[in-house]
Amino acid sequence: MPYEFLTVDVAERIATVTINRPDKLNALNARVLEELDGVFTAFATDRLIGAVIVTGAGRAFVAGADIAEIAANDVAGLERLSAAGQAIFTKIERLPKPVIAAVNGFALGGGCELALACHMRVASEHAKFGLPEVKLGLIPGYGGTQRLPRLIGKGRALQMILTGEQIDAAEAHRLGLVNAIATASTLTDVARSIALQAAKNGPVAVARAIDAVNDGYDRLAEDALALESRLFGSLGATKDMAEGTAAFLAKRPAQFTGE
Ligand code: COA
Repeated sequence: MPYEFLTVDVAERIATVTINRPDKLNALNARVLEELDGVFTAFATDRLIGAVIVTGAGRAFVAGADIAEIAANDVAGLERLSAAGQAIFTKIERLPKPVIAAVNGFALGGGCELALACHMRVASEHAKFGLPEVKLGLIPGYGGTQRLPRLIGKGRALQMILTGEQIDAAEAHRLGLVNAIATASTLTDVARSIALQAAKNGPVAVARAIDAVNDGYDRLAEDALALESRLFGSLGATKDMAEGTAAFLAKRPAQFTGE
């Protein structure tokens, strides 16, 4: 399917989605969001895709939601926009395959929130992160007020949200906002190597692990542990578990089929 603002490349079961609107620093307008929704819906059931990398074209990852579009909205419109953006980012977070943000530059506002919705984040040393919405008289509306505190803690998240400060990659790494830092020239390789490592594992197990972490995160420990046991048990019915354990015992590489 041809996209106006995305390019999608697939190699070795890794799909790389590049948001390609560099003249506007890849700002998320309605069309970009719609295209992200479409591509992630397709990835969920595409057996040829084992992991996804999201990155930006040019000097930005994504410099936020499109401010020109936001400005044209009233109360009901803004609420709808937020709910629609949240739904797409939650779809990314719940994709049953690893999603890695390769943050190549500015990840501000909706761009930071997009990175937060991904399962892992790798940043180029020049990347900048921030939730500057309050500078516009807004608050983060695509999940930032919820995902950032869960990732880095409430106090530091509130500092970012209330000041609108930009932090560099080193600080983001120190805070646990990014998993790793790379140079601009090695960013894709680092993201790719993580994606390949995850994509070679049992696909059903990877999907259930994502479910266990996502669905268990906000539950009480007892409930979350019961969920883990259910998901753990469910793998007993998969060919992947039979293959993975048999391969280990036979000292040979596993050949997973995702069944
Ligand atoms: N929405 C719409 N357009 C945006 C945008 C956004 N979030 N961020 C950048 N752009 C556009 C600029 O308007 C400019 O377009 P133009 O050339 O047609 O005037 C172009 O992208 C380049 O941005 P510019 O501001 O000239 O680059 P810069 O290097 O001087 O500054 C930033 C870079 C990221 C610091 C600055 O663009 C910025 O602050 N962007 C908004 C960040 C933000 O508030 N995001 C949250 C939105 S809710």
